[in-house]
Amino acid sequence: MEKIPSFCPIFRLHGLFILVTMLIAAFRCSSNLSLDFYAVPCPSAEMMVKNTVRSASSLDPTLPGKLLRLLFHDCFVEGCDASILIQGNGTERSDPANTSLDGFSVIDSIKRVAELFCPGTVSCADIVALAARDAVEITGGPAVQIPTGRRDGRISAASNVRQNIVDTSFTLDKMIQIFSAKGLSVDDLVTLSGAHTIGLAHCSAFSERFHNDSTGKLALIDASLDKDYAAMLTKQCPARASASVTVNNDPQTPTIFDNQYYGDLLAHKGLFQSDSVLLNDARTMNKVVNFANNQDNFFESWGRSFVKLASVGVKTGDEGEIRQFCSVINR
Ligand code: HEM
Repeated sequence: MEKIPSFCPIFRLHGLFILVTMLIAAFRCSSNLSLDFYAVPCPSAEMMVKNTVRSASSLDPTLPGKLLRLLFHDCFVEGCDASILIQGNGTERSDPANTSLDGFSVIDSIKRVAELFCPGTVSCADIVALAARDAVEITGGPAVQIPTGRRDGRISAASNVRQNIVDTSFTLDKMIQIFSAKGLSVDDLVTLSGAHTIGLAHCSAFSERFHNDSTGKLALIDASLDKDYAAMLTKQCPARASASVTVNNDPQTPTIFDNQYYGDLLAHKGLFQSDSVLLNDARTMNKVVNFANNQDNFFESWGRSFVKLASVGVKTGDEGEIRQFCSVINR
């Protein structure tokens, strides 16, 4: 008989009922994600994630942005398998491209609750995906149903990060190429970039658009940026600003998940060069204009693209493991 993954506690049941439930559970635990994955082994799993994200975000309104970005950086390196959470020298998390990531302690808190009520059942990879999903809803974005059943990876290497993560200096061609390698289309790129409607960026993240002039003040290099917006940024990020200084990704409604990001792009107020290019290329411009004018279209597209992002390279069935602690691979 096919090996049945040991994480499905449903197999502890007895009697004739066991045969039927085994068949159902074997199907559920097979290689695909499913919408009711935790219905039997841990019915409160999604609620635990939502409640923790909600209460932590009410104490720290910057949290939703952090949780959403965490999923992006998890999924693009080794797939959505929580490899981003592993602590230690030489792991993904230790790579300079990931030093500004945050939100790890909330994922750990959710995992502690999950281990208390459903030991060995809820993967860290599902927690990261559900927390990002909830971060969007909590800030006013669409409620999206996502399938679960991700398993946690056992590989996390800094050497895998650079070639898989998109940098703000990349051309549209290069971004399309990286997204496409993950099974994501040009439309997914435009839609998922809408995540920049919430959250923060450190001054260093867009410093290539400015330079120090002869008086030591920041001056604009990138002439495509709105002049008033550029002036505001140089004020918020003066030359020699502390490395911890941040600005809002969306200057208009920074804590609300809405379609304002696309309005910002039309107004030449895209913070990163990688945002601005979406308006300047025929392959992406129409979607930007469409989303700027119609939030329903953006939200509808978000639901589809988000599920695709959260499914990139997932491990299921008997691949990987269910970690005991999200920051450590099981021994
Ligand atoms: C398309 C290429 C992308 C590039 C080049 C990019 C780059 C960046 C950079 C440089 C930051 C600022 C980080 C910091 O300084 O702390 C940032 C923030 C953020 N990114 Fe992206 N990003 C991209 C796509 C995405 C996607 C697909 C998502 C999620 C679906 C996402 C979600 C976020 C969020 C929510 C923040 C705010 C983080 C916070 O508040 O801590 N980004 N991004």
